[in-house]
Amino acid sequence: MVKKMSSLYYFKNFKKLANDFRRSPVKIENGALWIGDSLQVSEWEKPFQKKLAQICLNKKEGNILEIGYGLGMASNILAASNIIKSYSLIEAHPQIFSTALNTIGEVANFTGYYSFWEVVVTKMSPKCFDSILFDAYLPLFDNKADSEYKSSTIKKYLLESLPHFSRILSKEGILVFVDVTNDIEFSAKELLSTNFHKLKKKKVGVVIPDRCPNYCNDDYVTLIQLEAL
Ligand SMILES: C[S@@+](CC[C@H](N)C(=O)[O-])C[C@H]1O[C@@H](n2cnc3c(N)ncnc32)[C@H](O)[C@@H]1O
Repeated sequence: MVKKMSSLYYFKNFKKLANDFRRSPVKIENGALWIGDSLQVSEWEKPFQKKLAQICLNKKEGNILEIGYGLGMASNILAASNIIKSYSLIEAHPQIFSTALNTIGEVANFTGYYSFWEVVVTKMSPKCFDSILFDAYLPLFDNKADSEYKSSTIKKYLLESLPHFSRILSKEGILVFVDVTNDIEFSAKELLSTNFHKLKKKKVGVVIPDRCPNYCNDDYVTLIQLEAL
């Protein structure tokens, strides 16, 4: 049984955050996608977005779920693959969802969900995916938050979210996401409580532009891969 999401400001105020997000304008400027005041993703992220998609493709003949279309960098790789059984996408912003449909709507065995993952994932059947690429959350903090606050908030958010992902993953199905702080650690006990195990981390070298608010100032980002029990 998946626990009700509740303890974080994010989940307690989800309806309001979600409504505000949907109404926020989209802007693409200098290769960066903004929704309202929130920088979502930038073109410099392409190398690790590609890696995230490739990790999902390791499950050959798999049913893949991507959460968050953004600039479509990971999606391009997934949609072009002929080794997967099905490709599903959840995207919450109307304009981005419409771009996604125009770009990949005709792909064979594609299903698009215009929704927040927090809403639609809870309605999906158990064990229906073999891999999930998770790269979507509403802003958890403002741009001025310090790195310690960022990593502890993201960790709390993930610990509440992970059981929802393990429920819809097949046994040994994988979840991948990027740790933007390079600092998130889960104990085996914490992972077990979310029905995941095996923490695999992969560093991917990146060149992060000055004053990029979402990332720490390292020359790499960490991709985290978990396996469902
Ligand atoms: C970081 S971008 C994804 C980048 C993408 N991986 C790429 O390769 O370009 C995040 C995307 O998730 C969407 N999003 C944010 N919160 C969401 C949520 N709770 N459920 C579904 N989509 C969400 C945003 O509209 C945005 O398109």
